[in-house]
Formats: sequence, C-alpha cells, structure tokens
Amino acid sequence: MEVTRERAWETLTRYTKSEALLRHALAVEAGVRAYARKLGGDEELWGATALLHDFDYEIHPTLDEHPQDGAPLLREEGYPEELIESVLSHAEHLAMPRDTDLKKALFACDELAGFIHACGLVRPDGIETLAPKSVKKKLKQPSFAAGVHRDEVYAGAELLGVEFDEHVQFVTDAMKPIAGELGLRTEADTKTA
Ligand SMILES: [Fe+2]
Ligand SMILES: [Fe+2]
Repeated sequence: MEVTRERAWETLTRYTKSEALLRHALAVEAGVRAYARKLGGDEELWGATALLHDFDYEIHPTLDEHPQDGAPLLREEGYPEELIESVLSHAEHLAMPRDTDLKKALFACDELAGFIHACGLVRPDGIETLAPKSVKKKLKQPSFAAGVHRDEVYAGAELLGVEFDEHVQFVTDAMKPIAGELGLRTEADTKTA
C-alpha cells in the first residue's frame, strides 16, 4: 500500500476519539515531519508513523497491550513493516533498538511535544514566544505536567544527536503552524482579545 497522511488519519480517527490523543498525534507528527525535512527522510512515511504511534492507546490503555497489540491491526491494514516497527520502538518497555533516524526522531519528539503543549496551555500566547529556557525551567518542576517522563525528554535529544535547546526550539517551531488545531492560543487570538 501507499502510505499517505490521509490514510493514516483515517486509521487513527477510526480508533481514537479523544481530542487530547488526537492533538498529541498531531503535535508529534509536526515535530517528526520537520525532522524528516531536516534529515532527508520520507516525510509522508515519517508523518504517518508519528500520527499512528499511539493509534491504539484508547483501545489498549495499558503497557501490557500498547503498542504491541496495535501492531497486528496495522499489519492487517497493510502498513509497511518499517512503519510498524518504528511505532513499536517508541515504547520504552519493549526495549527495541532505535536504530534508524525515523525511530530516533519519533522517540525524541514524543514526550517533548506533549511537554511543549503543556507549557503552551498556561501561556497567554500559547507557544508563540515559548523559549527553550522556560521549557527547561518547567522541566525542573516535577509537579508541572507530571505525566511527562523527563528522562525520556533528555534521552531523546541525546539519541538524535541534537543539542537540547536547539531540539526544543525546533520542535516548538514545528508545532507553531498548527497551534490552533492543538487548542493553543495563537498570536491572532491575542490581537483580537
Ligand atoms: Fe505510546
Ligand atoms: Fe505518544
């Protein structure tokens, strides 16, 4: 099959109804697509992988099911093994090697995108003027977005071989064009407010 965004979105929305999960998928997609452009990856494949990485979380909300029990469903739909293997590799508990740029980028964007999103939700202009400095400050507050695994945020940048501040800025910038879709305030909102 040909992997397209349309097809991945159709699969995702068939299994996922939660707005928060869909926003998470979109945020991670934005980061991973930006890295595909930067690193010369197949943007359509990378984007679809990111969109689908948590596609089964709603039906498999525990680690003894997610994401491993989602893999056969993706296989049935005809997605290529490269996508499926990359989806599986995002899960820490499966301890699969993250041996491709796609797997590294997915891991590096997953927790970070969620954290940047959380930072944006408590700012008047969303992520418009969010800087790595304030992201790092928030990372040091354990009570803020407590569900985000800090160790994975740092490990992701290291695995991808990117400087931490640059990585945070890069993913933040990638998310800006879809800030509205992510439920974040945009510059336009602050102007009309
Ligand atoms: Fe996951
Ligand atoms: Fe995720």
